[in-house]
Amino acid sequence: MSNERGSWGSKIGLILAMAGNAVGLGNFWRFPYMAASNGGGAFLIPYFVALILVGVPLMFVEWNLGRFGGRRGHGTLGAMVYIQAREGINPRAAAVIGALCGMLAFSVTVLVNSYYNHIVGWALGYSFLSATGKYMSSSVDTVNLFVNFIGTPALSFTFWIIALVLLGIAVMRGVEKGIEAWARIMMPVLYILGFVLIIRALTLGAPNAAHPDWTPIAGLNYLWQPDFDKISFNTLLSACGQVFFTLSLGMGIICNYASYLKSNDDIVLSGISTVSLNEFAEVILGGTIVIPIAYAFGGAEGLGQGVGLSFMALPNIFRSMGGGQIFGTIWFLILFFAGFTSAIAMYNYLVALLEEDLSVARKYGAWIIFGLYILVGLPVGLEPVFYPGNTFYLDELDAWVGTYLLVVLGFIEISVAGWLMRNKAFEEINKGSYWKIPKWFFNLFIQFLTPIFLIIVLISSTIEKFQKGYFKWIPTFVADKPESIMWVQMARGVMLLILILGFTEAYRSIKANYGKELEINKVSTKN
Ligand code: ALA
Repeated sequence: MSNERGSWGSKIGLILAMAGNAVGLGNFWRFPYMAASNGGGAFLIPYFVALILVGVPLMFVEWNLGRFGGRRGHGTLGAMVYIQAREGINPRAAAVIGALCGMLAFSVTVLVNSYYNHIVGWALGYSFLSATGKYMSSSVDTVNLFVNFIGTPALSFTFWIIALVLLGIAVMRGVEKGIEAWARIMMPVLYILGFVLIIRALTLGAPNAAHPDWTPIAGLNYLWQPDFDKISFNTLLSACGQVFFTLSLGMGIICNYASYLKSNDDIVLSGISTVSLNEFAEVILGGTIVIPIAYAFGGAEGLGQGVGLSFMALPNIFRSMGGGQIFGTIWFLILFFAGFTSAIAMYNYLVALLEEDLSVARKYGAWIIFGLYILVGLPVGLEPVFYPGNTFYLDELDAWVGTYLLVVLGFIEISVAGWLMRNKAFEEINKGSYWKIPKWFFNLFIQFLTPIFLIIVLISSTIEKFQKGYFKWIPTFVADKPESIMWVQMARGVMLLILILGFTEAYRSIKANYGKELEINKVSTKN
């Protein structure tokens, strides 16, 4: 195990890197369509409930796990969770829990990034197409333009690989000189560009002459007017999934960044800063750019474009909007910067794993992971080449790894802190903190409300998946698309393989570090 772990260069660098970790495609690509397709104002109430009930408590727990693990030489979840779990149960049982968490974090960082990197590449490609005016003048409609883009390897693969090379370079240079340095530039630029777009969005007037009532402010009302009648349990489930994804919870990457903290670095205030900066980017910037623009041009219907909102509906609007070429470029650069600083975090997790468990130097590890991402990203990139417009492989991964497994990992983490570490977790969270979390908060949220809520979410999501046919050998949603069955099956095969590999790796890592106490099944190496 390497004892020379990197560390953050400065407080502001750490906060920006953590914000970069959290602020991602989830804020600008996923949030607007989730909010729009779940009724706008009907989405925000369950969203804020999930943020308070899950987002904030789990953020503290993950920072605690990371700093605690990092001070003992661990940057990945297996050993990190093991050393906390063994506070409450015997080492062998703790090793199984640790290995399960290591497996989940490994699967997320390998498989979510296998498609996330592609979307980062699409954003880079679309920045280029916007800046060069390519789609402005094209006679093809923007839906087909996008289908062509992701189906043409010369375009989609080129930008994907450029994005991957840039990520590799950033991670290779280490925590302070790589990750922190990029976040220090990209994050402030992202917020400034966001403000520029907000001003443009709010000064659009009523651009659709046939509908003078379609104004940006009416779009904001759609998002901000609470609509209690439309709130349903399913909206709450979607909101909870969004909170996990946007805050990077249940992925292992907040823990990994926190592992580079010093032992007395603040957790409470820094955790709250991460949540606040992320929510500002999500609800204020994400919500105030996309929704008013799309509403002003297409009314409520214009918002119902689902996942296509960013890459299909908005380019169509940029085509007809004054200064669209510049504002389109700004929009896709925002998406690129946001996605890039989150993809770095997933990338770094795997490089840290190679460093710590296999003693592979960072400069080589970064390129090994580059190769791995090319390998696991190939099916994601190839499906729309063979079957234009199809993304079933990506969707299957996202439904399981990018949504469901995050909640499983979050549930285990909070249970370990609340029920196995107990008071020690409470003390660890407050150690070195300017603001302390009160004991009642720990007891009420971390021990009760959050884990109970997560169990309910997990049970309901399992039932929902069952009803939608996710558990069938040939899932209902591809039953009438024979050409897509293979891609879904392939995604499942790859997931299984990565899960097995992740469990084995994490268990071996725990055993390599704590083999003696596992043998006697008694804690002997506490530090
Ligand atoms: N939190 C990152 C995002 O929102 C993963 O995209």
